[in-house]
Amino acid sequence: MPFSQQLVDRVNVVISKHETKRSALIPVLSEVQNEFGWLSVESMTEVAQILELHPSSVRSVATFYTMFFTKPVGKRVIWLCKTLSCALRGADKVERYVSEKLGVHTGETTSDGKIVFMETECLASCGSAPVMLAGDELYDCLSRNIIDEVIEKLQAD
Ligand code: FES
Repeated sequence: MPFSQQLVDRVNVVISKHETKRSALIPVLSEVQNEFGWLSVESMTEVAQILELHPSSVRSVATFYTMFFTKPVGKRVIWLCKTLSCALRGADKVERYVSEKLGVHTGETTSDGKIVFMETECLASCGSAPVMLAGDELYDCLSRNIIDEVIEKLQAD
């Protein structure tokens, strides 16, 4: 899907904040993913053209970072931290509960296409583990009640 003029304008703003076009690659990919929900081959090719990079360089960055999706996923993402502090404070239980509530395993999207459930590394809130990021918000000291509220909110979006 070709980029809209609004997206191109936002991408140009991102580029203008960086010394070189190459150094804007990750934030530009984030901007494009925010628009489409994932990064198609066409989107990555367009990013390569805008940033004057080889398409394979863009693709290797997009496939290296877990935060980028190169296949369509749910509209909203739940990122559950599974790193040490969260693991010690019940991330596995949280994972089971979220999986049960959504009817998916980590890495999968709900059947209505609304939510994708992903694992991630430390979200920098280790002191209040277990932690997850849903949409743009960080939720810590997770309990069943908090998880219920978060999922309800994402489903209503
Ligand atoms: S280990 Fe989970 S936030 Fe740091």
